[in-house]
Formats: sequence, structure tokens, C-alpha cells
Amino acid sequence: MALIIVCIVRFIENQTAQIDMSVLPLSSPHYRRIAESLRHTLASGALRPGDRMISARKLAEREQVSLPTALEALRCLEAEGLIIARPRSGYFVTPRNTERQIPPALSGPVPVTLSAVARSLFSSAESRLIPLGAALPDPHWLPTETLQRALQSAGRRLDAHGQSYSLPPGRADLRNKIATRAAQWGARFSADDLVITAGATQALRLALRAVCQPGDAVAIEQPAYFGTLLLLKDLGLKALQIPTDPIEGLLLAPLADAINRHRPAAVLASPTVQNPLGASMPVARKQELVALLERAGIPLIEDDVYGDLAGDGQRPPACKAFDQRGNVIYCSSLSKTLAPGWRIGWIAAGRYHPQVLQARMAGDWAGAPLLETAASDVLASGDYERHLRRLKVRVEKGVRAVIARVEASFPLGTCVTAPEAGFLLWVELPHPINALEVHRRALALGIGVSPGPLFSPGAELQNFLRLNCANEPTAQLLNAVDQIGRFVMN
Ligand SMILES: Cc1ncc(COP(=O)(O)O)c(C=O)c1O
Repeated sequence: MALIIVCIVRFIENQTAQIDMSVLPLSSPHYRRIAESLRHTLASGALRPGDRMISARKLAEREQVSLPTALEALRCLEAEGLIIARPRSGYFVTPRNTERQIPPALSGPVPVTLSAVARSLFSSAESRLIPLGAALPDPHWLPTETLQRALQSAGRRLDAHGQSYSLPPGRADLRNKIATRAAQWGARFSADDLVITAGATQALRLALRAVCQPGDAVAIEQPAYFGTLLLLKDLGLKALQIPTDPIEGLLLAPLADAINRHRPAAVLASPTVQNPLGASMPVARKQELVALLERAGIPLIEDDVYGDLAGDGQRPPACKAFDQRGNVIYCSSLSKTLAPGWRIGWIAAGRYHPQVLQARMAGDWAGAPLLETAASDVLASGDYERHLRRLKVRVEKGVRAVIARVEASFPLGTCVTAPEAGFLLWVELPHPINALEVHRRALALGIGVSPGPLFSPGAELQNFLRLNCANEPTAQLLNAVDQIGRFVMN
């Protein structure tokens, strides 16, 4: 899937069409005149870094020139570094160097106050909404028959033991399978370093408990997954928000600055397919992040729940692949790809393993042997890999369909971060709206949508929405996108 930020193209094309051609010498070759007009557009600020350029075909039509002439004009701008070509996606305004442009001045650690918004989201999660809200794959996309077969087979083999406790650190067969799979992307942990948890949520809680004390600050992405924010609140921790680029993820210069000023007790981030942005840090940045935090003596809690959705074949390495000293506490689960309700998660806590194991034993300690055995079987059989391949294709189709509908029905200037992987769209609206009111009106029509304020500690980000695209793009679903577009306009 292409890695792009789409600012609604039809509007951009209109903007480029408004160029005053009288400023250009008519005697110039066509491609130069067209290139000059595009340069004016860029200089005027009508297009922003990362915006998609008009396509060569449309440019040719608009300027009534041949396709090669239009392409030549675009290539001129590319040679000047003003635009970049992305395979199969067209030309884009060269993305800004976000590291340099992000202002170093950050607010300090803040308490999390968003619980009322989150409560309203959870209270509606049970109802059968048109599922653009919660970050979950369509249940029909899960391999239900495979899962049921695995449960039956595990039940037969375990017999009465299937109903017993699975004691910490969790069943060895499952831990072995998880470690073997993770070794393929370079993870530095073995089965002995893993603790099975009730989903990634419990893994994150154990990680925070292991390295933070109430009142500590934890550096998180801005915007951040609301479950992380709720955990911080519940544990009496403060959120230190670090600017996060929609394409390249957590920004290291502001993070280094925040570390110097505020000395957080931990950094909690999703460097691969971040929720809600869909951003993934380039591999070199992941290495830098691990090195930076190792030098600072601050643990990285890596939330990798969407990691298996990344990459066309082999997924990219998580930060844990570069962890030589056990400073990365790696958390993941099968919730976003296989079976959210099975609550199979895990944590490889590096040098914090003893504290995590102890906390697991002291707290909500038992797992379900039946589910752990069945999950282990699905991982061992190759069924998981086959399912993942199918899932990624469906996800890509779903994302494309929703982006197209947002482009068609949202107001001028709306920007959508089209994720390289994963199924979440982060939509920035061009004017202040009351995202919570949009959420409320959508709910009244049976449509789920996640309002921007859910993703910040103080319920800010009013003019953002997150849309879940892991669904069949049926007429009903796409009409729901239109409806949300209408609420946003009024
Ligand atoms: C970034 C992120 N981390 C963790 C979770 C929770 O995962 P689990 O269901 O395995 O607890 C979610 C669920 O939405 C998520 O988006």
C-alpha cells in the first residue's frame, strides 16, 4: 500500500487550475510553461508538503498537451526537488523535513482527563454499529472455521486440563511459537523471555507497573492510542506528548529535547503502524530510538499490536530487534489480526522480566490453557501466515475504498493520512468542528466513528476523526462515510 498523505485531490486540482498563466512567457516550450505554473502553485502555499500533485494525465487534459509533455513538466519539478514520485501513486509535494520543522517547545507532562469521552465510546461498543469506529477487523474476515477447529482439537488433547489455569509465564508451546515467529524479523528474545498476557493491554499495564511510579511522566506519541491514555490515568501517570509525524512516526529530536527537560520514566510508543496515524518509523530511526533511550537509561515500552500487518511479505523489524541490553519492553497480541476475544497477548520485558513476571503472578495471573493451546496450533500450522496474507489484501481494499469516499464527500482541505499498513485512517478536517458532536450524531444513526479528542490526554484534537477501514466496503458502509462527511460540513 502506498505511503502517502492525501489532501483531498479534487480540491488540489482546482487550486492548480487557478494559476494565472499570463505571468508566463508564451514563447517557452509547453512543458516549461506548465512547470512554471506548477512552481507558482507550490510557492503560493496552495499545496502543502505531502500533498498529492495533479496526475500527469489530468495535467495533460487541463493544459491540452500530450501526456509526455505533462510528464516532462512534472519531471522538471522532481529534478528540482520540489516534488517526489511515489511508485504507483503519482507525484507528491516533497514532504517537509519534519525533524527540523517541529518546534522544540513542548508542553510538559500533563494528567490524563479524557475518561468521559472514552466511556461513551465503550458504552456504544456493544451495539451493532456500522463499524467505522473501533479499531477491529470485520469479524467475517477472521478465520472462524480454522479457529473453531483449533479449539476443538486443543479441547480433545487437553481433556480436563483445558478447564484449568495456565500459570505464569503461560504455556511453553505458545511461547515457543511466538519466539520462533519473532525471530524471523530479528527479535532478540526466546520463549524463556516471554510472559503470556490477557491481550496487549495487560502487557502494557505490566510494563508500566514495572518501570513507573505514580506521578511519573511517560513520553507518548501525539496523537496516542486512547487505551494507552486510559492506562496512564489509571496508574496515576502523566502524559508527555511527543510530536509524531504521520509518515515517519515518533520524532526523535523533540523526544531527545523532552527527555532532557522532563526526564520521563519510560517512553511508550508504537513504532510500527501507529494508532491512530498508521505511521511506521523507518528502520534506521527505530535503531536510533533504541540507542537514544539506552544512552538515556529510559526504557522503551514498544506496543507492536499492528506490526504483523506491515510489509508486503516479511514484516519490518520492531525496535526489539535492535535491543542489545534488554531496555525494550516488547508488547503484542493476536487481537488485531486473528482473534480479539481470545485475549492472547505477550510481553518480552528484557531486563525487566523478573518484575513483570512477579507483577503477573501478584495480579490477574491465570491464563486459559484452551485458548493458549489453540493459538499455538494456529501459529504452528501456517494457517496464521495464510490468513495474514489474505487479511492484508482485504485491508488494503477497504482502506482505498474509504479514502476514495472521504475524498468525494468531505469538505475542501480535508487531509487523510493514507497508511502504509494497517486499517486506520486519521482524518484532519480543515476547520474546527466539534468531533464529539459528530460522534454523537453518527451514533444516533447507528454509525461508529472515533473522535479526535479520544487520542489526546486533555481531549483536544477537535478537528480530527479516526476511521476504521477493516470492513467490506459495502454500499451501507460507504454511505455512512458520506453521512459523516455531511455532519462535518454542517
Ligand atoms: C495501539 C494499540 N495497543 C493495544 C491495543 C489493545 O490490544 P489488546 O486487545 O490485545 O489488548 C489496541 C487496541 O485497539 C491498540 O490499538
